[in-house]
Amino acid sequence: MPELASRAHLQNIVPVVEQALAAAGCTMDGVDAFAFTRAPGLVGALIVGAQFTKSLALASGKPLIAVDHMQAHVLANLIDYPKPAFPYLCLTVSGGHTQIVICRSPSDMEVIGTTIDDAVGETFDKSAKLLGLPYPGGPLIDQYAKLGKAIYSFPEPKIAGFDFSFSGVKTSIMYFLQNAGTSNVFNEQKKGDDERVAFIEENLTDICASIQQRLVSILLNKLKKAAIHTGLTDICISGGVSANSSLRNNFHQLGNDLGWNTFIPKLEYCTDNGAMIAITGYYKFLQKDFASLDVVPAARAEW
Ligand code: KG4
Ligand code: ZN
Repeated sequence: MPELASRAHLQNIVPVVEQALAAAGCTMDGVDAFAFTRAPGLVGALIVGAQFTKSLALASGKPLIAVDHMQAHVLANLIDYPKPAFPYLCLTVSGGHTQIVICRSPSDMEVIGTTIDDAVGETFDKSAKLLGLPYPGGPLIDQYAKLGKAIYSFPEPKIAGFDFSFSGVKTSIMYFLQNAGTSNVFNEQKKGDDERVAFIEENLTDICASIQQRLVSILLNKLKKAAIHTGLTDICISGGVSANSSLRNNFHQLGNDLGWNTFIPKLEYCTDNGAMIAITGYYKFLQKDFASLDVVPAARAEW
């Protein structure tokens, strides 16, 4: 609901900034520059942030800094210690993106792998919707999966290089759930919706564990391939889906096995947050990489 999102941004932006200043124990006078998210995202919501930040910069005469949301997820790993050393590899997994990025410096990043269709967060959320769970379903699948076993199998896509694809696995989850509870695999005697719903309810934890196991293995197999290819050993994950407990545990385990230094931002810096925009703004500030007042937000990333 883009219009509702824009309205909510308008209603919340002043209280959020006041709260942030109070939590940081400073006033506007103590702020050296103003950074905002330029892209990617819902344009209406981005415009609210951009215009508000431009007003602050204009009124104070301080620099304005435009930040890319996906670059900020990669740099979220630099908010707290321990920090990865450059160059590092980052798997960024969110609702709209699935990327493998080489980060050589805060201003030098290269996307070496991306999804050719759906993002992994979207796949978590759409699978959850098919299970009758509310949005965003990713965290709920994570919770239910902890109580179940991965006894159902979904296919691993065969995509060249470091790219990802999730549409095939999403479709197989959809067919599995459509046929769930029917007595034979060819679905000749399709049972009614009641049986299907009952099957899903009874087996919810195992279904969630199975979906999660496949999505996590797709991510980590590609990350492993990219790490071996690039020879990098400081490896990070970031973005909303990096809050997933199975991804976090298996990532650390894989890193132990392969001799990586593994990094994940604190939970509050995994999902979308202002601190990652601020840290990116800080590095741009050091480089005097300032935006002009006529900069406009964009729906898609442009780097
Ligand atoms: O980075 P983010 O907060 O927003 C975007 O930039 O998209 O990521 C949101 C995504 C949603 O798809 C949400 O379901 C997913 O992150 N997510 C999770 C978990 N927590 C958030 N997915 C799986 N397990 C979680 N624990
Ligand atoms: Zn995000």
